[in-house]
Amino acid sequence: MIVAIDGPAASGKSTTARAIADHLGFIYLDTGAMYRTLALAALRYAAAGWSEPVVQVLQKSEVEVAYADDGEMRIFLDGEDVSEAIRQPEVGTMASRISARADIRDRMVALQRKIGQAAEPGVVVDGRDIGTVVFPDAPVKVFLTADLEERARRRQEELQQQGQEVSRAAVRKEVKARDRADRERAVAPLRQAADAVVVDTTHLNVQEQVQAIVDLVHKANGGHA
Ligand code: DC
Repeated sequence: MIVAIDGPAASGKSTTARAIADHLGFIYLDTGAMYRTLALAALRYAAAGWSEPVVQVLQKSEVEVAYADDGEMRIFLDGEDVSEAIRQPEVGTMASRISARADIRDRMVALQRKIGQAAEPGVVVDGRDIGTVVFPDAPVKVFLTADLEERARRRQEELQQQGQEVSRAAVRKEVKARDRADRERAVAPLRQAADAVVVDTTHLNVQEQVQAIVDLVHKANGGHA
């Protein structure tokens, strides 16, 4: 069973998807983490001084996903666990740029499908193109949204929890720019699948968001999950 969750930056996808996966005993696949991992490779490479085209560096960079005993998804860049390092805001911005490349998307989509198809009893996958491109036949598709201001507030809170002080205005600008880039790119842009259910989380708490989607999964399963 595949549960596809798409939506703009900071709409609550990862928190919600992780909680749904826990609730249902599914694994959680964070596809943004994959693009972030390649973005980290590009940023590290840039910091070290460019001598080889970044495209070649990205082609050589190995992205792997593994699940810890507690079910937590971990992500590796050339064998190094970068699950925390990829959470920096500049990595997100670079991920948005890198993810516009068709060759990179093809590679990541193939990996996402491989993990998703092997997942038993199921997987909750979040990203931008899950319901439209990666798993167009997913029985449950959700498009998670929230007001820009609420998304900026959540992102700021998340950064504060990681010890990073950033102004609301700066966060709002970053979230807005990323939305625009993700929506306007030519390849697999962020958009709602025709058969996705829209869940606006502006006025919902995490528990309510999770319940709304778990209900959809039960319905798709004919009352069982
Ligand atoms: O969800 P996130 O912030 O971790 O994603 C980082 C960037 O990766 C996002 O701005 C766009 C890109 N992305 C994508 O293009 N397709 C996905 N399925 C997931 C993320």
